[in-house]
Amino acid sequence: MPTEFSHLLSSFDPETGEIAGAKPQYRRLSDLRGCFADGAAYDAALAQGDPLVYSVCACEAATGPGDLCYGIGRIMAGRVGREYYMTKGHLHTWRDAAELYFGISGEGMMLLEDHRTGDSRAIALLPNHAVYVPGHNAHRTVNTGSRPLVYIGVYPATAGHDYAAIKERNFRSVVVEQGGRPALRSREDYLRDPAGPGPGALR
Ligand code: F6R
Ligand code: MN
Repeated sequence: MPTEFSHLLSSFDPETGEIAGAKPQYRRLSDLRGCFADGAAYDAALAQGDPLVYSVCACEAATGPGDLCYGIGRIMAGRVGREYYMTKGHLHTWRDAAELYFGISGEGMMLLEDHRTGDSRAIALLPNHAVYVPGHNAHRTVNTGSRPLVYIGVYPATAGHDYAAIKERNFRSVVVEQGGRPALRSREDYLRDPAGPGPGALR
């Protein structure tokens, strides 16, 4: 089998999340300052070490208008406070650009937040399922399971990644463990009462 990286054929490893010929990027806990809602829990976790939270490897060989790229993410299992390990999250610079996510292994959620309305949704990201991320939605991927979550995201080559808006105001909602299950709660509500019942567990 060919292993060369090209825009017509590339090979990836569904276990490691690596694409042959592409350089993975590693995000450690220290890279995610400001992402987790509970700052005290974040500082306490970081005082214990700086674990890998996720890696992402992208095939971005085709760059023209109309071209597509893909990335493989691999998020470790873990939590900061009750909030599950997750990606930084971003909006696409080209706000209209949508993205398709495919679950490969593990169990997770896509946290979507429409930047125009502030509405949040959490959609299950599971093996053999696809999640459509519409344009104008900030998206963050969350590992709600006990083993690594591996997934693929396919996006327009011209989408661009805007992390600044998220860094400035973060998502309004969090996906947190509650009674052994993931629940979507407003960040404010979670910070007021981390163990509280919240508005309901997700299926
Ligand atoms: C690309 C995309 C994914 C993410 C990956 C890591 O548009 O959405 O490939 O890049 O899930 O998340 P971020 O980029 O938020 O660190
Ligand atoms: Mn994206």
